Amino acid sequence: MESARPSRTALRVALRRAAHQLYDAPPLVLDDPIAVLILGPHSAELERTPRPEPGKKEKPFSVGLRAFLVARSRYAEDLLARAVASGVSQYVLLGAGLDTFAHRNPYPELRVFEVDHPATQQWKRELLAAGNLPAPADLTYAPVDFECQSLPEQLAAAGFDAARPSFFAWLGVVPYLTLPAFRATVSFVAAQPAGSGIVFDYAQPRSALPFLEQLAYDSLAARVKLAGEPFRLFFTPREIAAELAAFYDLEDLGSSEINALYFDERAHTANDQLQLRGSAGRIVSAWL
Ligand SMILES: C[S@@+](CC[C@H](N)C(=O)[O-])C[C@H]1O[C@@H](n2cnc3c(N)ncnc32)[C@H](O)[C@@H]1O
Repeated sequence: MESARPSRTALRVALRRAAHQLYDAPPLVLDDPIAVLILGPHSAELERTPRPEPGKKEKPFSVGLRAFLVARSRYAEDLLARAVASGVSQYVLLGAGLDTFAHRNPYPELRVFEVDHPATQQWKRELLAAGNLPAPADLTYAPVDFECQSLPEQLAAAGFDAARPSFFAWLGVVPYLTLPAFRATVSFVAAQPAGSGIVFDYAQPRSALPFLEQLAYDSLAARVKLAGEPFRLFFTPREIAAELAAFYDLEDLGSSEINALYFDERAHTANDQLQLRGSAGRIVSAWL
């Protein structure tokens, strides 16, 4: 991403999480009372954010993308709950964007570290200040550009304790990185104590997608490129398993598994179209 500008894709993702709160039928997949508040002046952009409208059929790609974005945050928070129950006391959000977990943290013993590109983090802090959302005492910010700064050094400077097990969420970031930056972060996480874990989503290469999904991919890829944040890193499930060879209990979820977890049952009560479509995005978790 461009070094002096906050991430535009972070805003787009946050707008879709906010749209989920406002426009999707209950039960919500991600119940996030801060999702709208954090947008501040950007909430005006909700008008232009794809959303369900009574009597109109929503475009399958838009609804599928919103479903994917809320599901990946929900899945990360579900895994975090499991990690905390088994003794993890540090949660590191890598490329945190406008994620609001730190402001909803229900675990008194959990320290939260938000790592992000310095320009995005500064912008988020300004939005929080403007929205009267003070930083919780157990939250620490660590500005890091994964491409040219050391994650271990910046986290250590922020007070991260590498001797204690931690859970890392790296949502919506991997496709924007170079392979060396991706591998440096995976190696750092792999060196954490037993009981640590990681969750992230990744994109499959265009060539692995069916024809119609290639067109949907082209449209999204063109939009993120225009925003100055082109997709550049892709993996097949087999490749991601090789990258995570140091970890155990790999869970690599495609659309049908994510729908089974969060959407299939909801479809009976909510009576809406909120479901993942296609096969481009996958979510993987792994443990040490
Ligand atoms: C699509 S947003 C996702 C934000 C957040 N994780 C979420 O799910 O809402 C991508 C995030 O990756 C961060 N990012 C992209 N490239 C980065 C880099 N080289 N170093 C640090 N952060 C980066 C951006 O600043 C942004 O916060």
